[in-house]
Amino acid sequence: GAGAGRDIGGDGIGPDVVAQAVRVLTALDLGLDFAEAPVGGHAYRVAGHPLPPETLALAARADAILFGAVGDPDCDGLERQLRPEQAILGLRRELGLFANLRPARLFPGLADASALRPEVAGAIDLMIVRELTGDVYFGTPRGRRTTADGLREGFDTMRYDEAEIARIARLGFETARGRRGRLCSVDKANVLETSQLWRDVVTEIAAEYSDVALTHMYVDNAAMQLVRAPGQFDTIVTGNLFGDILSDQASMCVGSIGLLPSASLDAAGKGLYEPIHGSAPDIAGQDRANPLATILSAAMMLRHSLGLADAAARIEAAVAAVLASGARTADLGGTIGTAAMGDRVIAALAA
Ligand code: NAI
Ligand code: MG
Repeated sequence: GAGAGRDIGGDGIGPDVVAQAVRVLTALDLGLDFAEAPVGGHAYRVAGHPLPPETLALAARADAILFGAVGDPDCDGLERQLRPEQAILGLRRELGLFANLRPARLFPGLADASALRPEVAGAIDLMIVRELTGDVYFGTPRGRRTTADGLREGFDTMRYDEAEIARIARLGFETARGRRGRLCSVDKANVLETSQLWRDVVTEIAAEYSDVALTHMYVDNAAMQLVRAPGQFDTIVTGNLFGDILSDQASMCVGSIGLLPSASLDAAGKGLYEPIHGSAPDIAGQDRANPLATILSAAMMLRHSLGLADAAARIEAAVAAVLASGARTADLGGTIGTAAMGDRVIAALAA
């Protein structure tokens, strides 16, 4: 509707990029019914909490959620529970969004924007399946304390149980099965107990997927291999922390963090769709953000949650055509603004 993206778009560039995605969805005339609610630092200011109960209730009722980004330097002094980032963590936890799909592939014509040599970048077509509701981001105990020697100390708990590992592993195998049939499980089993359990459980689940080729890789090696020879990866399954870091790294291999969409799914296929980037306060309000990651997230939403795969493919083809035409936002070395990029995609839909 009018003004769509103001609220669930969140902070920084969130509202700007969500507004463009909503324009693209509206242009497709799919009969979608949009509703919005405040989230993040914006919600803290208007409603006193980064994830107000009304916002959570609306998200729980919706068939799918399109999300921008949260994070606001003005909120840095707040206690952890009131910080904007708690909104996205709360949505993931409360809605049971345990699986995060992060595709990365090089769009035609973008090889020069990649941080990698063109022939290396050209081989990238991978999917990162990241566990999203466990690991060191949610494990307890956590906190700050003072040691016996009077030193300040911070601590977090890395933790997974076998059921959490098994369900993300199954999604990893299913995803690989729908792609090129190769699954690489990334862990740090040479050092971490959590990772040793992870490796054991993934190996056990593999017996159910004899058609998928499973490999294991340590996360430090995976970071290196992603840059050295990313074409070796088809589907990667990994935990919350390692997946967070590897997917930001993968984004630079395909040109910009402003290009990477994501889907966060529950056990029934309901999802929250967001760009992998954050609120980018350094470029907020300057019409400089690349909206394509959010527009591609909207396409994933149509495909995974709303049963509109044809419309999703139309959006993806329009984005590819716009990039192939040379149109680029600042993050890709161009001069096109956020709204003008939205215009280009809408024009390409009609072409
Ligand atoms: P960021 O992803 O917001 O920005 C990193 C760099 O990439 C910045 O230089 C930014 O200008 C650039 N960038 C990001 N998205 C872009 C786009 N669409 N177009 C062009 N350039 C883009 O990460 P950063 O700076 O670490 O975090 C900023 C805030 O966002 C923090 O408060 C952080 O906690 C939050 N954050 C929120 C996330 C979410 O809502 N899911 C995810 C990651 C960070
Ligand atoms: Mg991240």
